[in-house]
Amino acid sequence: MKPEQIYIPTAIYFGRDIWQESIKEIENILRGNVMIVTTGRTLARLGYIADLKKNLEECQKVKRVVIYDKVSANPRLSEAKQGIEAAIENKIDVVIGFGGGSAIDLAKAVAARTGTKALIEEYLYDGMEPGEGTLPVIAIPTTAGTGSELSKAAIITDDIKKMKVGIRGKRLFPQVAIVDSIFTESVPFHRTMETGFDVVAHAMESYISVAASQYTRMQSEYALKLAGQMLPRLAANLGDIEARSQMSYVSMMMGINLGNASTGLPHRLQYPLGAYTDTSHGWGLAALYPAWLAYEYEYNRESVEHLVSILAGRIIQGKQNCIHTMGQFIASLKLPSSLKAVDRTMLQDMIDTVTGNLLNDPASQEPDIVRKIYEKAWEET
Ligand SMILES: [Fe+2]
Repeated sequence: MKPEQIYIPTAIYFGRDIWQESIKEIENILRGNVMIVTTGRTLARLGYIADLKKNLEECQKVKRVVIYDKVSANPRLSEAKQGIEAAIENKIDVVIGFGGGSAIDLAKAVAARTGTKALIEEYLYDGMEPGEGTLPVIAIPTTAGTGSELSKAAIITDDIKKMKVGIRGKRLFPQVAIVDSIFTESVPFHRTMETGFDVVAHAMESYISVAASQYTRMQSEYALKLAGQMLPRLAANLGDIEARSQMSYVSMMMGINLGNASTGLPHRLQYPLGAYTDTSHGWGLAALYPAWLAYEYEYNRESVEHLVSILAGRIIQGKQNCIHTMGQFIASLKLPSSLKAVDRTMLQDMIDTVTGNLLNDPASQEPDIVRKIYEKAWEET
């Protein structure tokens, strides 16, 4: 066996309707001024933000709770800067990300910058890692997908440069993740499918990653099997509470894989796609997946067949069968399996703004792979 390093520094509380109990259990971390970074709207309408604020205010060492809710679906640098200003002004000690991946990512960006003199651009563009002044982050995800609650990355869109860029570093792992599937039960159909497909993507890409370990591969297989069963169940009945709970669970598991094995080319290529078209992360991944599989198959046939077979729950062999099965799965979630709906004139801009480590994915050996996947995604039906 190869040596392995597995790093899971986040304390995890998982269950249905456990968030209030969990807040009580982590009272020792909750002190001073606390900022809730949230996407708002639906959570506010359902009363969850007011409830969370109230629960936090009841903690003995908490002085004040501030809410920052200017967070888009693809969190923007301008929004991060406003959040940081508010955090500095309010002398924030702890940041809570409450919402989808965008709220948690923005909470991490606020935490990384607030306690230091560095510019946020130094983290985004100069590869600087968040240091000692980073504030503790508590993640409370309300969607089942991004895994941000257990990852060390914050993905931010630079609204001027039209680029999705990341801040990464060990100090960005949330100190606590409260994963309560009750929050996901009010997520509408498309968002459920988009975030659910993100779980599938994390499982497949972390499996084929050159950084994968026996541990992360085992997790990928389990997550893929469950997602392959639960997402179609949710597509048929959004009120399936057990399926909601299982998706939250595997989403959380894949958060661990993000921190330990990372992702592959679809994630690298989705970031410019999202920045240029303002489409969601899961939507873009689905649109890129059949095209990516076609190339991945050439470099990693056994893994691709293995993964598609687990997802489908039956043996799938051969390149076209793998692509077809993946396309069918995507269609069953009412997601796109190509980029046909997107304006092609942005292709070159998207190619030019792909960032991150492409070498994590075996298909990166293919010459001009970025262009080839985008172009094939426009052709694929
Ligand atoms: Fe993702």
